[in-house]
Amino acid sequence: MNSAEKRDIRIKRVSSRKRSRESSQIHLTPERKRGPEKCPQSCRISSIMAEQQEQAAEFCSDSEDLFGDYDSLLQDSSLLAKLDNAEQSERQRDVQRDFTNLRTKTSADVLTDSILEALAEEDLPPSMQQFQDQVQETRSRLQGGDQTSTPLKNIETSTSLRNKEDSRPPRGGASRRSVADALKRAMLGNAASPAAASRSAALKEAVLSEEISVARQAMEEVSAETPDLGPFFGLPTRVKELMLRLKGIQNLYEWQETCLNLQSVQRRKNLIYSLPTSGGKTLVAEILILRELLCRRKDALFILPYISLVQEKVRGLASFGVELDFLVEEYAGSKGRFPPVKRKHRRSLYVATIEKAHSLVNSLIENQRIDDLGLVVVDELHMLGDGSRGAIIEMTLAKVLYTAKSTQIIGMSATLGNIRDLQTFLRAENYTNDFRPVQLKEYVKLQGTIYEVDPKEEDCFRFSRLLNFKYSSSMQKLDPDHIIAMVTEVIPTHSCLVFCPTKKNCENVGGMICRYLREDFLRLHEPEKVLLLRQLRESGGGSVCPVLRRTVPYGVAYHHSGLTGEERRLLEEAYSCGTLCLLTCTSTLAAGVNLPARRVILRSPYVAADFLKRSQYKQMVGRAGRAGIDSEGESILILQDKDRLTAKTLVCAPMESCFSNLMLDEGKGLRTLILSLIGLNITSSVQQLQDFLRCTLLFVQQKQLCVQTGLEEALQHSLHFLQEKELITAEGETLSVTRLGKATYKGSVDLLYSSVLYRDLSKGLEGLLLNSFLHLLYLVTPYDMVHQCKPGWMLYYTQFTLLSAAEQRMSASVGVPESFVARKAAGQTVRKSANMEVVSRMYLALVLFSLLKDLNLWVVSDRFQLSRGFIQSLLSSSCSFCSCVLHFTEELEEFWPFRALLTELTRRLSYCVTSELIPLMEVAGVMEARAKQLYNAGYKTLTHLANADAAVLSNTIENLHRKQANQIVASAKMLLSEKAAALQEEVDDLLTLPKDLPSADALRSL
Ligand SMILES: Nc1ncnc2c1ncn2[C@@H]1O[C@H](COP(=O)(O)OP(=O)(O)OP(=O)(O)O)[C@@H](O)[C@H]1O
Ligand SMILES: [Mg+2]
Repeated sequence: MNSAEKRDIRIKRVSSRKRSRESSQIHLTPERKRGPEKCPQSCRISSIMAEQQEQAAEFCSDSEDLFGDYDSLLQDSSLLAKLDNAEQSERQRDVQRDFTNLRTKTSADVLTDSILEALAEEDLPPSMQQFQDQVQETRSRLQGGDQTSTPLKNIETSTSLRNKEDSRPPRGGASRRSVADALKRAMLGNAASPAAASRSAALKEAVLSEEISVARQAMEEVSAETPDLGPFFGLPTRVKELMLRLKGIQNLYEWQETCLNLQSVQRRKNLIYSLPTSGGKTLVAEILILRELLCRRKDALFILPYISLVQEKVRGLASFGVELDFLVEEYAGSKGRFPPVKRKHRRSLYVATIEKAHSLVNSLIENQRIDDLGLVVVDELHMLGDGSRGAIIEMTLAKVLYTAKSTQIIGMSATLGNIRDLQTFLRAENYTNDFRPVQLKEYVKLQGTIYEVDPKEEDCFRFSRLLNFKYSSSMQKLDPDHIIAMVTEVIPTHSCLVFCPTKKNCENVGGMICRYLREDFLRLHEPEKVLLLRQLRESGGGSVCPVLRRTVPYGVAYHHSGLTGEERRLLEEAYSCGTLCLLTCTSTLAAGVNLPARRVILRSPYVAADFLKRSQYKQMVGRAGRAGIDSEGESILILQDKDRLTAKTLVCAPMESCFSNLMLDEGKGLRTLILSLIGLNITSSVQQLQDFLRCTLLFVQQKQLCVQTGLEEALQHSLHFLQEKELITAEGETLSVTRLGKATYKGSVDLLYSSVLYRDLSKGLEGLLLNSFLHLLYLVTPYDMVHQCKPGWMLYYTQFTLLSAAEQRMSASVGVPESFVARKAAGQTVRKSANMEVVSRMYLALVLFSLLKDLNLWVVSDRFQLSRGFIQSLLSSSCSFCSCVLHFTEELEEFWPFRALLTELTRRLSYCVTSELIPLMEVAGVMEARAKQLYNAGYKTLTHLANADAAVLSNTIENLHRKQANQIVASAKMLLSEKAAALQEEVDDLLTLPKDLPSADALRSL
């Protein structure tokens, strides 16, 4: 590194807050809040947005995706080993092919193979048999090359495949694809109905490939006027069959057909569609995705707001991928590669959280591959208005709009107020319909009376009935809102969700209801409940939450972000299948989920101390009466007299508008955007930046946000800030990122922390403690979590004394000596003060250290007196930040030693289980307890799972329903096939002759 560069990243203690506050005083406010003429100087967008964000943060208290970054290197070491093997067998195969080419293929060969196979078939179940067939075929091809005898029953398959392959370039053709092909067919065999014979499978595949090619041809030839491209909305009939088999959907709703047949949709224009909750929006998006993958042969990106929703979608679509030969790749949590593996032969559907989608789009732009992405779908588009996560969606979409030539964007939502703004932003058409397949009746309860919500009535509420309850005085005291009366009208025959304003309230309400439930509730689904409690205990390493222990026997549980992910999953599953009939929950269950709920009760119109927003209300009540699960649905909002007037607006007013969040937190979103635009070479001058900003929602809303004079100014302030932070430089007109700037945007590191991180890592290099994880854990403990936990000094000291001498020295070296902690624990005054942020960060590092040692959340939660929800969120944020730091260090040569270390640490933090369970937990939705069950039952690797018979699996594994077993097997097949395909692509790349290989002539002429 030369001295100039060194200067680039010299660390200054910049009082960034102060400076940024001064530098970005842009006076912006939404129009509805400003006076008629001009913005008052005191109205600042940042504060308004900050308010919004706080609310949003509360609402999404479990906004679960804390992994907004690159973390692509997780499986690299094993991958290299596999690559070596694959390369070796490839070489072997090339040599053997030369020999076998000399052999003539005779009918005897065919016959022998068939007979042998027929003999082997006898003792195996059909699905396993089919897999064996494929493996056998692969083996024989690997041993004998492509020209060896082919079993008769596969002739048709290979013909159809060969037709497909004819169009491929000669190198890297059929011979190289054999592993992936065989795997794919094996997977297809197992995924299809177990009884399917391979001949019919082959025929089906031939028909499918024929239909796809017809549809694709039609697509290529299609003029803008041609609306109909094929038998099922341009897709093969097989898709229709799969919709029935896998989703139980026989026919599309009328609106779905209309929407899919819209001219604008046929012409691939951008589209926003808006329908009530449970209107069936997902299906339309999925059909368009399939069209993109199968007919246009382009990749697609599906953005969902939470990790749990991404996992659910990956599980649901994996079977489609296996059957229709495309890949479903999960981008959530620690999963996802950047840039994604380039697939030559198959298209990919990336299912991603908001943060991961942004990183994915960045990586595609950086690698000039953005045009491979044919379609971007954003579910819950109203999240654009949701604080910093909204800003990330906006950045992602603006980048796609600006850089991609023909990528279509589709957004959907049930709660959009200002579609026009969003239409202008996305240059999109709009489709709206108020269809809801299951009627949802909305009620409010005031005192002992239930009123139906009716916007036509003068005061919005129409008398419906008196609530029927007979309460004793003690009961009245305990349950003044009559929740028990309302709940018991529905349970246990139907299920019920009770939304509560706080986590604690969820637990209390659950407990309170159980106190008054009849004894016979205990007898319902007793064995399943016993099993559930056992599973909860297993997932807690022997401990189970005392509240759940009391409520589950009654079929009641609470659900909020204080539970571990695994507990939530177990409870959701139990509720879905009727073992539990009532969940008391926070907004954790408000968006997008399909759970049964005949009745949804809103305990109060507040989330924490804030009055509900209309969109939040709509999402919550929208969980009642889901199509295909319930035949009717109703919601009851419990009101106190004081809230009556405000509640009218809540239930009857039009939906709120969503506003750009780029200016949130003093323009943090805008600054981050600008840094990455320069870094990705999308823009390199002020003029280009201005052009780009025209593609943002902020630009569209600048009048409402009162930013007409401010947008240019905001840009200048941001540039100034980035220069001051030494993240960008300007030479004449040209803007470029510094090394620190590049590391910052590549690692998705918060601009406020990048220089601190650089300093900490540099200091770390001077004496890195490597005989334990403590030092590394300290370096990846997220800066923004230190304020969320106050150290308990006695606990701190106790833990400190358990450290080795080297670990204590390490702690002292970062600024937390034993004497400091000891004095604090003894309640003595400390003469030499310490940096409290560093002290708290070290404390959190001790929590993580403890967790990695014990691998048990409950033990650590008890040891540090912290909730297990907090510890889990600390773990996932640290895992996320660890991969951020990894990508940060990758851009800075001086940090080379960190790379290998952080790769391993990310892996350990991602799963935090014993290493043998990790391969199973890579499968979407398989969590620790399930992984243990599977492992103990003999399914020890991904390959075991991918080849499992779902029926056998569901019979062997306790409480694993057939549908879940199918999904697990399909997801495992998908993951295995994806890994195999990635290896195959790498083999292809390695063996492909470089185009610019100097020829002998060229060398001679030198
Ligand atoms: N044509 C159809 N026939 C039968 N069921 C359908 C059809 N389309 C969708 N469904 C089912 O309706 C249920 C709700 O659909 P979906 O999840 O797409 O709703 P949504 O519009 O996205 O609602 P939300 O806004 O709450 O997310 C799902 O279980 C889905 O399988
Ligand atoms: Mg939905």
